[in-house]
Amino acid sequence: MHQEEKARLIIGGKTIELPVLTGTEGDKAIDISELYDEHGITAFDPSLGSTCMCQSTITYIDGDKGILRYRGIPIEQFDRPQPNFIEVAWLLIFGNLPTRRELRDFRDLLTANEMLHEGLHRQFGDLPPKSPPMAILSAMLSQLACYYEKFLPLGDDELFIEAAARLISKVRTIAAYSYRRSKGLPFMYPDPALRYCANFLHMMFSIPYQQYIIGEEIEDAMNLVLILHADHEQNCSTSTVRVVGSAKANLFASCAAGVSALWGPLHGGANVEVIKMLESIHNGGMKPEECIEAAKDKTNPFKLFGFGHRIYRNYDPRAKILRAAVDRVFARLKTKDPLLDIARKLEELALKDSYFIDRKLYPNVDFYSGVLLRAMEIPTNMFTVIFAMGRLPGWIAQWKEQHDNLTQKIIRPRQLYTGNKITGYIPIESR
Ligand code: CMC
Repeated sequence: MHQEEKARLIIGGKTIELPVLTGTEGDKAIDISELYDEHGITAFDPSLGSTCMCQSTITYIDGDKGILRYRGIPIEQFDRPQPNFIEVAWLLIFGNLPTRRELRDFRDLLTANEMLHEGLHRQFGDLPPKSPPMAILSAMLSQLACYYEKFLPLGDDELFIEAAARLISKVRTIAAYSYRRSKGLPFMYPDPALRYCANFLHMMFSIPYQQYIIGEEIEDAMNLVLILHADHEQNCSTSTVRVVGSAKANLFASCAAGVSALWGPLHGGANVEVIKMLESIHNGGMKPEECIEAAKDKTNPFKLFGFGHRIYRNYDPRAKILRAAVDRVFARLKTKDPLLDIARKLEELALKDSYFIDRKLYPNVDFYSGVLLRAMEIPTNMFTVIFAMGRLPGWIAQWKEQHDNLTQKIIRPRQLYTGNKITGYIPIESR
């Protein structure tokens, strides 16, 4: 990171010089970190749209050009030939592609940790069958802290790897069990002989007397979905993980907080909203043209879900890959989904409408992921859970990067107070 230029801020007749930082890809940021301590002035940026909350070496996005890279590798290179999600997880967390030995050891560690503690397992039985899987996921990740207290103190690299492996491995068991609970089906134990995605699909769909046959195209599609969701720099859930982690909260608690943030319909929950929208059109609730008009109407809170992005002002490269994957999977499975035609129609209408063109609103990752997950027979209420499974290595990588930086302080923003000036307390009998 260079620091050659200076920016000048003129305020109250005083000129303040501020360093300008330049990232590896030439992005510039004015360093205001000393502004308050030295000059008593704060910066106002309510949704942090112009604020870098950290330096990071993990993921690079150029939103104008539609570029996404993990540790410098363009996202398109993870499509075909497709690495295993576990390789990508390692890359994000440790910064380099794993050697064969590193990959084998990490896989073994995941396999050794795929079961849930019976105490945790039993808790599923006490949950109402209709419990939202995201609520279960967040609660269960947080509860891992009750069973693995040795990971709560921070600062030991070996323990960190073990904690990370436990999270990445157990998240799929918890995810699959939350689905089985919702269906009243018996839980299937993980099968150590299966790869990561195949094992998840087995726990989701096998029944005690009938092993689920895992098609290669389904396993590959699941692997791709997880890879494409694996990190996305300082999005809402990842910054949540960093904020919680900055208080030196443990990895389980920090990632559980990330799950809660991801649940929101403007973030990971958008993949569910997209399918609801497509289903509503399919069921005759509204026409695609009406859907576009509703999204443009400022008096209507409705949005075109799966469209728009804080960073991308271009086609989200993940959506491009997913769009092609949907075609591939449908062709290989020789199936169709009317929702795919509706999604394409919506995209076509939006991309030629001046409202969307002027605002640079394009399909994001959530627009086609749901249609692809439906092809794998994944129920809609599991879509955001699968996003969370994919995003977990990213959260872990960002948490690690933050903790490896020994100068990192607790994240504590300021506010611009606009409430009452000093006033007096009035006893209740006088109000
Ligand atoms: N439908 C209709 N109008 C939209 C949409 C949309 N999907 N997205 C943005 N706009 C409008 C917005 O109303 C605003 O209009 P105006 O300038 O007239 O006020 C303009 O476009 C700029 O949008 P913004 O609200 O400043 O954008 P933002 O960066 O605050 O929000 C967003 C980004 C993703 C929350 C938003 O685009 C959105 O709500 N999209 C739908 C939900 C969605 O698909 N979320 C998934 C995001 S990608 C994966 C993830 O992060 O989880």
